[in-house]
This record gives sequence, structure tokens and C-alpha cells, in this order.
Amino acid sequence: MSVELETVILEKQNKMVSSEIKTVTIIGSGTMGNGISHVFAQCGLNVHMMDINQSALDKALVVIGKNMDRQVAKGTLTEETKQQALGRIKTYTDMASAVADADLVVEAATENIELKLNIFKQLDEFCPEHCILASNTSSISLTRIASVTKRPGKVIGMHFMNPVPVMKLVEIINGYGTDREVTQTIYTLTELLGKVPCVVADYPGFISNRILMPLINEAVLALQEGVAGITEIDTIMKLGMAHPMGPLQLADFIGLDTCYSIMHVLHMGFGNQKYAPATLLANMVQAGYLGVKSGEGFYKYTPGSKELVVSDRFSSKQWS
Ligand code: CAA
Repeated sequence: MSVELETVILEKQNKMVSSEIKTVTIIGSGTMGNGISHVFAQCGLNVHMMDINQSALDKALVVIGKNMDRQVAKGTLTEETKQQALGRIKTYTDMASAVADADLVVEAATENIELKLNIFKQLDEFCPEHCILASNTSSISLTRIASVTKRPGKVIGMHFMNPVPVMKLVEIINGYGTDREVTQTIYTLTELLGKVPCVVADYPGFISNRILMPLINEAVLALQEGVAGITEIDTIMKLGMAHPMGPLQLADFIGLDTCYSIMHVLHMGFGNQKYAPATLLANMVQAGYLGVKSGEGFYKYTPGSKELVVSDRFSSKQWS
């Protein structure tokens, strides 16, 4: 096919998608929810951001404004486009009103299966019939989520990466019963957002976390066994493999509780001992050392400082 013809087809698809999907409701206004709201609003869609309390929504609007300011400072967004984008975001604390005219919902609530199943039951009840229901889950089965709705063909995974405005990937997960047209719509929409879609099947951890989490877990096992210290492990992966963050810093960034719970999903889902979470990871989660969000994990975080300081709990140990 010629490049011209491909371009015409793509433009047609883009027009179709932008006419099909005008209003997107984002459930949850935490780190992922506000990042997802940011990119949809920036691309010209009406965004309804929903959370159970208004103070979380107010905080999310401030974060989105600040993240857009970074883009304005870099010259990748004008002040005018920023104001227009912010003007497209409305906030809601009531789900029925938030989704009343939604063409797409992206659920980005806490990664808890009972909570998500309950949200999807409600979404199925309140959303218009044509509305696609997507989840930003990082590990829960889309087929399981779809099973609590009467529209399994319209349920799909849209797994954004943190920080959402920066990371190019959206992992699209097809549940067992997801309709092909729904996958196509979400694929084209993802491209419209300026992101790169990759479609995968619904198996534990999909592709991203099936590969990333065992890497992180192996780094924790190596630390636990005394093979090397935190700085050495992260430096080896940063300078030797060109990873932007070492695996232990990345674990702190993602949240050790999230890493632990995804390892648990892989361990249970595949029934293979190779996915057993490291004891050190389990202990740190139990003790509340969750990484950036709790102020300490493998590193210690001081608000406003970008310096990487290894946690005192590790720095006194001798590694050989
Ligand atoms: N919004 C907008 N822009 C942002 C931003 C945000 N929230 N956060 C960072 N940026 C921009 C900065 O403005 C900066 O832009 P320029 O380079 O153009 O000036 C750029 O991103 C880099 O930011 P910083 O200079 O502050 O910091 P950095 O160079 O250390 O980069 C990072 C930060 C982008 C997070 C980088 O360290 C990185 O890529 N880390 C790995 C991230 C990663 O692996 N994410 C996936 C996690 S897994 C996941 O999300 C899914 C899961 O299921 C667990």
C-alpha cells in the first residue's frame, strides 16, 4: 500500500474515532488518573474526572496545571492551549452524573480487585449503551472484570505508564470477549493521543509487568543475598543497560506494595515458584517502607530534593 493511501486511511480512521469518542470519564484522580486526564484534555477531548472526594479532585487539577507548566516552559505547549485543555476538565464526585454522556470510561482507581469489580458493575449500569469501558489495571484480568458487566465485548485494558504525560506506551489488553472493533477504536484513539499502542492478550501481568516485575524482584533477591549494594545494582542497570532508572529506584517510584501485589498475581496466576516475591520485598511492604509515596524504600526521599540517598537501613551494611 502506498504511503499516501495509508495516510488517507489513517486520517479517515482518526476522524471516525474523534467523532465516536468526544467525552471520556476518568475514574480516580491519583497519579495515573490525573495523568490520563491530562493527556486526553490536551488532545481536545472533554474530560470528566471522577473521585469520591472533592479535595482529591482539586489536588489533581493543581498537579495537572503544574505538569502542563513544565510543557509550557519547554515550549511544547502554549499557555493558550494549556488553558483550553484545563477548561475541558470537569470534576465529579457522583458516578452516575460523571458517566451520563461518556463515550469512553477509563477506570484508574486503586489496584484492588473487589473495588474494581464493584466499579465496573456500577459503570455498566450507569453508562450509555455505546460506551466503551476501559481499565488502567496493571495486573487484574480484563476477562474477569468484563464478566461482571453485560457488555464484555466493550471491556478492554488501557494500561498507561507513569508518568503518563511523558511515557509513550499504552499497553492495550484484549479480554477474552473483547470485540475487534473496540480494540481498533482504542488503538486509533491511543495514536491520536500521541502514544504508541501495543495490543496483548489477557494473561497474568500482560507483557509489561510479566517482564518488568521479575526483573525488579531479581534485583531485590540479589540485594537480599548480599551480591551487591543498592547503588551498585542500580548503576549496573543504568549504565550497563541504559535503563533510565535502576530496578530498585524504579520499584520505589512504582511503589513496593504495587510491585509485591503484581508478583503475587504472577505467582498465583502461573503457579510457578520463579515468580515468588522476594522476602525482603514482602518485609519492606509489611513494615510500610513503600518507596517514594511513604518517603522511604530502598532510598530515602526529601521533598524538593532530587538527590538519590540510599536508605539508612541499607547504607551501613558491608557488601562484598
Ligand atoms: N508531566 C509532564 N512532564 C513530566 C512529568 C509529568 N508528570 N514528569 C517528568 N516530566 C518531564 C520533565 O519535564 C522532563 O522533560 P525534559 O527532559 O524535556 O526537560 C522529563 O520529563 C524528564 O523529567 P526530569 O528531568 O524531572 O527527570 P528524569 O530525567 O529523571 O526523568 C522519568 C524522569 C521520565 C520518570 C525517567 O526517570 C524515566 O523514564 N523513568 C522510568 C519510568 C518508567 O519506567 N515508568 C514505567 C513505570 S511502570 C508503570 O507505570 C506501569 C506499571 O504497571 C507498574
